[in-house]
Amino acid sequence: MHKKLLIPGPTEVGQEILSEQTRPMIGHREKEFAEFYGGITSKLAKFFELQPDCKPTVTTSSGTLWFDIIGRSIVKQKALVCVNGAFSQRCAQTIASCGKTADVLDVEWGKAVKPEVIAAKLDGGNYDTLTVCHNETSTGVRSPIAEIGKMMRKEYPEVIFAVDAVSSMAGDRTLPSEFGCDIVFGSTQKCFALPPGLAVALVKDRAIERAKQVPNRGAYTDLVDIFEFEKKHQTPFTPNISLLYALDRRMDLLLQETYAKVYQRHLDMANYTQKWAKQHFAMFPEAGAESITVSCIHNTLGKNVKELNQKLAEKGYMISGGYGKLAEKTFRIGHMGEWNLAGIEEVIGLIDQIWGL
Ligand SMILES: Cc1ncc(COP(=O)(O)O)c(C=O)c1O
Repeated sequence: MHKKLLIPGPTEVGQEILSEQTRPMIGHREKEFAEFYGGITSKLAKFFELQPDCKPTVTTSSGTLWFDIIGRSIVKQKALVCVNGAFSQRCAQTIASCGKTADVLDVEWGKAVKPEVIAAKLDGGNYDTLTVCHNETSTGVRSPIAEIGKMMRKEYPEVIFAVDAVSSMAGDRTLPSEFGCDIVFGSTQKCFALPPGLAVALVKDRAIERAKQVPNRGAYTDLVDIFEFEKKHQTPFTPNISLLYALDRRMDLLLQETYAKVYQRHLDMANYTQKWAKQHFAMFPEAGAESITVSCIHNTLGKNVKELNQKLAEKGYMISGGYGKLAEKTFRIGHMGEWNLAGIEEVIGLIDQIWGL
Protein backbone atom coordinates (compact mmCIF):
# COMPACT_ATOMS: atom_id res chain seq x y z
CA MET A 1 0.00 0.00 0.00
CA HIS A 2 1.22 3.51 -0.78
CA LYS A 3 2.07 5.44 2.37
CA LYS A 4 1.07 9.11 2.28
CA LEU A 5 4.06 11.06 3.48
CA LEU A 6 3.91 13.35 6.50
CA ILE A 7 7.68 13.44 6.67
CA PRO A 8 9.34 16.84 6.18
CA GLY A 9 10.18 16.08 2.56
CA PRO A 10 9.76 14.53 0.16
CA THR A 11 6.11 15.14 0.75
CA GLU A 12 2.99 13.80 -0.90
CA VAL A 13 2.55 14.56 -4.63
CA GLY A 14 -0.90 14.22 -6.17
CA GLN A 15 -1.57 12.25 -9.36
CA GLU A 16 -2.42 15.41 -11.32
CA ILE A 17 1.11 16.73 -10.75
CA LEU A 18 2.79 13.36 -11.30
CA SER A 19 0.98 13.00 -14.64
CA GLU A 20 2.35 16.32 -15.91
CA GLN A 21 5.75 14.66 -16.11
CA THR A 22 4.66 12.34 -18.90
CA ARG A 23 4.36 15.17 -21.41
CA PRO A 24 6.67 14.93 -24.48
CA MET A 25 10.12 16.54 -24.46
CA ILE A 26 10.92 19.86 -26.11
CA GLY A 27 14.36 21.20 -26.98
CA HIS A 28 15.71 23.44 -24.24
CA ARG A 29 17.19 25.88 -26.77
CA GLU A 30 13.92 26.18 -28.72
CA LYS A 31 11.55 29.15 -28.69
CA GLU A 32 8.85 26.85 -27.32
CA PHE A 33 10.97 26.17 -24.23
CA ALA A 34 11.77 29.85 -23.67
CA GLU A 35 8.06 30.67 -23.78
CA PHE A 36 7.25 27.83 -21.40
CA TYR A 37 10.10 28.48 -18.94
CA GLY A 38 9.54 32.27 -19.09
CA GLY A 39 5.95 31.50 -18.09
CA ILE A 40 7.12 29.62 -15.00
CA THR A 41 9.42 32.40 -13.86
CA SER A 42 6.62 34.97 -14.41
CA LYS A 43 4.35 32.85 -12.22
CA LEU A 44 7.07 32.65 -9.55
CA ALA A 45 7.53 36.43 -9.71
CA LYS A 46 3.78 36.92 -9.30
CA PHE A 47 3.36 34.42 -6.47
CA PHE A 48 6.33 35.74 -4.49
CA GLU A 49 5.39 39.38 -5.26
CA LEU A 50 8.86 40.16 -6.60
CA GLN A 51 10.01 43.75 -7.06
CA PRO A 52 11.80 44.52 -10.36
CA ASP A 53 15.22 44.18 -8.66
CA CYS A 54 14.57 40.59 -7.58
CA LYS A 55 14.54 37.71 -10.06
CA PRO A 56 13.48 34.08 -9.89
CA THR A 57 15.38 31.10 -11.24
CA VAL A 58 14.92 27.34 -11.16
CA THR A 59 17.90 25.00 -10.94
CA THR A 60 17.85 21.31 -11.77
CA SER A 61 19.21 20.27 -8.42
CA SER A 62 18.06 19.80 -4.89
CA GLY A 63 18.35 22.76 -2.51
CA THR A 64 21.89 21.94 -1.45
CA LEU A 65 23.21 23.32 -4.74
CA TRP A 66 22.44 26.77 -3.33
CA PHE A 67 24.90 26.23 -0.46
CA ASP A 68 27.49 25.64 -3.18
CA ILE A 69 26.33 28.64 -5.21
CA ILE A 70 26.69 30.84 -2.14
CA GLY A 71 30.11 29.37 -1.39
CA ARG A 72 31.32 29.70 -4.98
CA SER A 73 29.57 32.82 -6.30
CA ILE A 74 28.60 34.99 -3.32
CA VAL A 75 31.15 34.77 -0.52
CA LYS A 76 34.19 36.85 -1.41
CA GLN A 77 36.28 35.87 1.59
CA LYS A 78 34.36 35.48 4.78
CA ALA A 79 30.82 34.47 5.66
CA LEU A 80 29.00 34.38 8.96
CA VAL A 81 26.92 31.20 8.99
CA CYS A 82 24.26 30.92 11.69
CA VAL A 83 24.02 27.29 12.79
CA ASN A 84 21.06 26.09 14.85
CA GLY A 85 20.57 22.61 13.39
CA ALA A 86 21.81 19.98 10.98
CA PHE A 87 21.06 21.79 7.73
CA SER A 88 22.60 25.11 8.68
CA GLN A 89 25.62 23.08 9.82
CA ARG A 90 25.81 21.58 6.34
CA CYS A 91 25.68 25.09 4.89
CA ALA A 92 28.75 26.08 6.94
CA GLN A 93 30.62 22.94 5.86
CA THR A 94 29.77 23.54 2.20
CA ILE A 95 30.92 27.16 2.19
CA ALA A 96 34.18 26.11 3.88
CA SER A 97 34.65 23.36 1.30
CA CYS A 98 34.47 26.04 -1.42
CA GLY A 99 37.67 27.46 0.07
CA LYS A 100 36.04 30.42 1.85
CA THR A 101 36.06 31.26 5.53
CA ALA A 102 32.78 30.20 7.14
CA ASP A 103 32.64 31.47 10.72
CA VAL A 104 29.94 29.68 12.64
CA LEU A 105 27.55 31.53 14.90
CA ASP A 106 26.49 28.61 17.07
CA VAL A 107 22.97 28.75 18.41
CA GLU A 108 21.60 26.02 20.66
CA TRP A 109 19.49 23.49 18.74
CA GLY A 110 15.84 24.27 19.41
CA LYS A 111 16.45 28.02 19.60
CA ALA A 112 15.86 30.61 16.89
CA VAL A 113 18.63 32.82 15.54
CA LYS A 114 18.07 36.38 16.83
CA PRO A 115 19.10 39.68 15.21
CA GLU A 116 21.01 40.89 18.34
CA VAL A 117 23.40 37.93 18.37
CA ILE A 118 24.06 38.32 14.66
CA ALA A 119 24.76 42.04 15.05
CA ALA A 120 27.17 41.38 17.93
CA LYS A 121 29.12 38.91 15.79
CA LEU A 122 29.06 40.95 12.57
CA ASP A 123 30.47 44.03 14.31
CA GLY A 124 34.05 44.53 13.21
CA GLY A 125 34.17 40.99 11.81
CA ASN A 126 34.71 42.05 8.19
CA TYR A 127 32.09 39.67 6.86
CA ASP A 128 30.85 39.95 3.28
CA THR A 129 28.01 37.40 3.55
CA LEU A 130 25.49 36.23 6.14
CA THR A 131 23.47 33.01 5.91
CA VAL A 132 20.52 32.02 8.07
CA CYS A 133 18.18 29.06 7.82
CA HIS A 134 14.57 30.24 7.99
CA ASN A 135 13.09 26.86 8.87
CA GLU A 136 15.53 24.38 10.44
CA THR A 137 13.91 21.11 9.43
CA SER A 138 16.01 19.10 11.90
CA THR A 139 14.65 21.01 14.92
CA GLY A 140 11.39 22.49 13.60
CA VAL A 141 12.65 25.98 14.44
CA ARG A 142 11.62 29.05 12.49
CA SER A 143 13.91 32.06 12.84
CA PRO A 144 12.66 35.68 12.63
CA ILE A 145 14.11 36.45 9.20
CA ALA A 146 12.15 39.66 8.64
CA GLU A 147 13.60 41.12 11.86
CA ILE A 148 17.09 39.98 10.90
CA GLY A 149 16.62 41.45 7.42
CA LYS A 150 15.52 44.79 8.82
CA MET A 151 18.61 44.94 11.02
CA MET A 152 20.85 43.91 8.12
CA ARG A 153 19.53 46.56 5.73
CA LYS A 154 19.97 49.24 8.39
CA GLU A 155 23.25 48.23 10.02
CA TYR A 156 25.12 46.11 7.43
CA PRO A 157 23.82 47.03 3.97
CA GLU A 158 27.04 45.89 2.29
CA VAL A 159 26.72 42.30 3.57
CA ILE A 160 24.85 39.92 1.23
CA PHE A 161 22.13 38.17 3.20
CA ALA A 162 21.16 34.68 2.00
CA VAL A 163 18.30 32.65 3.45
CA ASP A 164 17.73 28.89 3.28
CA ALA A 165 13.96 28.48 3.01
CA VAL A 166 14.22 24.93 1.66
CA SER A 167 11.42 23.60 3.86
CA SER A 168 9.28 26.73 4.15
CA MET A 169 9.10 28.38 0.71
CA ALA A 170 5.58 28.09 -0.77
CA GLY A 171 4.15 27.12 2.63
CA ASP A 172 5.21 29.76 5.13
CA ARG A 173 5.68 33.44 4.26
CA THR A 174 9.04 33.85 2.54
CA LEU A 175 8.60 37.01 0.46
CA PRO A 176 12.00 38.58 -0.26
CA SER A 177 10.41 42.01 0.24
CA GLU A 178 9.38 41.03 3.79
CA PHE A 179 12.60 39.15 4.54
CA GLY A 180 14.86 42.02 3.41
CA CYS A 181 17.24 39.38 2.05
CA ASP A 182 19.29 39.16 -1.15
CA ILE A 183 18.82 35.46 -1.86
CA VAL A 184 16.16 33.02 -0.68
CA PHE A 185 15.90 29.47 -1.97
CA GLY A 186 13.67 26.42 -1.56
CA SER A 187 13.45 22.81 -2.76
CA THR A 188 10.52 21.43 -4.73
CA GLN A 189 10.10 18.24 -2.67
CA LYS A 190 8.91 20.26 0.33
CA CYS A 191 6.08 22.81 0.31
CA PHE A 192 5.90 22.97 -3.51
CA ALA A 193 4.76 19.33 -3.29
CA LEU A 194 6.65 18.17 -6.34
CA PRO A 195 9.06 15.30 -6.75
CA PRO A 196 12.65 16.11 -5.68
CA GLY A 197 15.01 17.51 -8.28
CA LEU A 198 14.41 21.25 -8.63
CA ALA A 199 15.30 24.24 -6.48
CA VAL A 200 13.66 27.66 -6.73
CA ALA A 201 15.66 30.77 -5.86
CA LEU A 202 14.72 34.44 -5.71
CA VAL A 203 17.78 36.61 -6.16
CA LYS A 204 18.28 40.37 -5.90
CA ASP A 205 20.27 42.11 -8.63
CA ARG A 206 22.83 43.22 -6.05
CA ALA A 207 23.65 39.58 -5.32
CA ILE A 208 24.32 39.01 -9.03
CA GLU A 209 26.51 42.13 -9.04
CA ARG A 210 28.41 40.70 -6.06
CA ALA A 211 28.92 37.43 -7.94
CA LYS A 212 30.59 39.32 -10.78
CA GLN A 213 33.35 40.29 -8.32
CA VAL A 214 33.96 36.72 -7.17
CA PRO A 215 36.47 34.64 -9.19
CA ASN A 216 36.39 30.82 -9.70
CA ARG A 217 32.63 30.47 -9.63
CA GLY A 218 32.68 27.02 -11.22
CA ALA A 219 30.18 25.99 -13.90
CA TYR A 220 26.97 24.70 -12.33
CA THR A 221 27.50 27.12 -9.44
CA ASP A 222 28.04 30.28 -11.51
CA LEU A 223 25.29 32.69 -10.47
CA VAL A 224 26.26 35.20 -13.16
CA ASP A 225 25.87 32.57 -15.87
CA ILE A 226 22.51 31.45 -14.48
CA PHE A 227 21.11 34.96 -14.78
CA GLU A 228 22.70 35.63 -18.19
CA PHE A 229 20.65 32.66 -19.44
CA GLU A 230 17.57 33.85 -17.54
CA LYS A 231 17.59 36.93 -19.81
CA LYS A 232 16.78 34.52 -22.69
CA HIS A 233 14.38 32.46 -20.52
CA GLN A 234 16.80 29.57 -20.62
CA THR A 235 19.02 27.68 -18.20
CA PRO A 236 22.79 27.33 -18.72
CA PHE A 237 22.59 23.53 -18.77
CA THR A 238 19.95 21.00 -19.80
CA PRO A 239 17.16 21.27 -17.22
CA ASN A 240 14.81 18.55 -16.03
CA ILE A 241 11.99 19.48 -18.39
CA SER A 242 9.59 16.87 -16.96
CA LEU A 243 9.86 18.42 -13.51
CA LEU A 244 9.42 21.88 -15.00
CA TYR A 245 6.08 20.72 -16.45
CA ALA A 246 5.08 19.70 -12.95
CA LEU A 247 6.29 23.00 -11.47
CA ASP A 248 4.32 24.95 -14.08
CA ARG A 249 1.11 23.18 -13.03
CA ARG A 250 1.96 23.62 -9.34
CA MET A 251 2.39 27.37 -9.82
CA ASP A 252 -1.06 27.56 -11.45
CA LEU A 253 -2.54 25.77 -8.44
CA LEU A 254 -0.69 27.94 -5.92
CA LEU A 255 -1.74 31.14 -7.69
CA GLN A 256 -5.33 29.91 -7.79
CA GLU A 257 -5.28 29.21 -4.05
CA THR A 258 -3.52 32.55 -3.39
CA TYR A 259 -0.45 33.28 -1.28
CA ALA A 260 -2.49 34.29 1.77
CA LYS A 261 -4.58 31.11 1.78
CA VAL A 262 -1.59 28.82 1.25
CA TYR A 263 0.00 30.41 4.33
CA GLN A 264 -3.21 30.18 6.36
CA ARG A 265 -3.65 26.50 5.47
CA HIS A 266 -0.13 25.73 6.72
CA LEU A 267 -0.69 27.80 9.85
CA ASP A 268 -3.93 25.94 10.63
CA MET A 269 -2.21 22.56 10.26
CA ALA A 270 0.67 23.69 12.49
CA ASN A 271 -1.65 25.11 15.17
CA TYR A 272 -3.67 21.90 15.31
CA THR A 273 -0.61 19.62 15.44
CA GLN A 274 1.17 21.73 18.03
CA LYS A 275 -1.87 22.04 20.29
CA TRP A 276 -2.12 18.24 20.24
CA ALA A 277 1.64 17.90 20.82
CA LYS A 278 1.54 20.20 23.86
CA GLN A 279 -1.40 18.26 25.33
CA HIS A 280 0.52 14.98 25.33
CA PHE A 281 4.21 15.81 24.83
CA ALA A 282 6.10 19.11 24.49
CA MET A 283 7.36 21.05 21.50
CA PHE A 284 11.12 20.86 20.91
CA PRO A 285 11.53 24.46 19.65
CA GLU A 286 11.50 27.31 22.12
CA ALA A 287 8.08 28.95 22.46
CA GLY A 288 7.30 31.31 19.60
CA ALA A 289 9.85 29.73 17.24
CA GLU A 290 7.76 26.77 16.06
CA SER A 291 7.85 26.07 12.34
CA ILE A 292 4.53 26.11 10.53
CA THR A 293 5.55 23.42 8.02
CA VAL A 294 7.12 20.80 10.31
CA SER A 295 6.35 20.13 13.97
CA CYS A 296 9.32 18.77 15.89
CA ILE A 297 7.88 17.17 19.02
CA HIS A 298 9.87 16.39 22.16
CA ASN A 299 9.06 12.73 22.81
CA THR A 300 8.59 13.21 26.55
CA LEU A 301 6.58 9.96 26.85
CA GLY A 302 9.37 7.92 25.24
CA LYS A 303 6.97 6.48 22.67
CA ASN A 304 8.30 4.10 20.02
CA VAL A 305 8.01 5.98 16.72
CA LYS A 306 9.25 3.07 14.58
CA GLU A 307 6.45 0.86 15.86
CA LEU A 308 3.95 3.67 15.37
CA ASN A 309 5.05 3.99 11.76
CA GLN A 310 4.59 0.25 11.19
CA LYS A 311 1.00 0.57 12.37
CA LEU A 312 0.42 3.82 10.48
CA ALA A 313 1.72 2.11 7.34
CA GLU A 314 -1.19 -0.33 7.54
CA LYS A 315 -3.48 2.69 7.34
CA GLY A 316 -1.42 4.25 4.54
CA TYR A 317 0.53 6.98 6.36
CA MET A 318 4.07 7.73 7.51
CA ILE A 319 5.47 10.34 9.89
CA SER A 320 9.14 11.01 10.67
CA GLY A 321 11.52 10.24 13.50
CA GLY A 322 13.95 12.82 14.84
CA TYR A 323 16.92 13.98 12.77
CA GLY A 324 20.56 13.13 13.53
CA LYS A 325 21.41 13.65 17.17
CA LEU A 326 17.73 14.27 17.93
CA ALA A 327 16.71 10.85 16.54
CA GLU A 328 15.70 9.36 19.89
CA LYS A 329 14.58 12.53 21.61
CA THR A 330 12.08 13.88 19.08
CA PHE A 331 9.75 12.94 16.27
CA ARG A 332 8.47 15.11 13.45
CA ILE A 333 5.23 15.57 11.59
CA GLY A 334 5.57 17.32 8.26
CA HIS A 335 2.45 19.29 7.37
CA MET A 336 3.35 20.89 4.12
CA GLY A 337 2.48 20.97 0.45
CA GLU A 338 -0.78 19.33 -0.50
CA TRP A 339 -1.84 18.49 3.05
CA ASN A 340 -4.83 20.20 4.63
CA LEU A 341 -6.31 20.39 8.13
CA ALA A 342 -8.79 17.54 7.57
CA GLY A 343 -5.94 15.21 6.54
CA ILE A 344 -3.84 16.16 9.58
CA GLU A 345 -6.82 15.68 11.91
CA GLU A 346 -7.33 12.21 10.51
CA VAL A 347 -3.70 11.14 10.93
CA ILE A 348 -3.45 12.58 14.45
CA GLY A 349 -6.68 10.75 15.30
CA LEU A 350 -5.01 7.52 14.17
CA ILE A 351 -1.92 8.27 16.27
CA ASP A 352 -4.19 8.83 19.28
CA GLN A 353 -5.80 5.41 18.69
CA ILE A 354 -2.50 3.59 18.18
CA TRP A 355 -0.78 5.18 21.18
CA GLY A 356 -3.93 5.22 23.30
CA LEU A 357 -3.65 8.95 24.01
C1 LIG B 1 16.45 23.48 5.91
C2 LIG B 1 17.06 22.62 4.86
N1 LIG B 1 18.10 23.09 4.16
C3 LIG B 1 18.69 22.37 3.20
C4 LIG B 1 18.25 21.11 2.90
C5 LIG B 1 18.88 20.35 1.79
O1 LIG B 1 17.97 20.35 0.74
P1 LIG B 1 17.98 19.24 -0.39
O2 LIG B 1 17.74 17.93 0.29
O3 LIG B 1 16.86 19.68 -1.29
O4 LIG B 1 19.32 19.32 -1.03
C6 LIG B 1 17.18 20.56 3.60
C7 LIG B 1 16.69 19.21 3.31
O5 LIG B 1 15.85 18.65 3.98
C8 LIG B 1 16.56 21.35 4.59
O6 LIG B 1 15.51 20.88 5.28
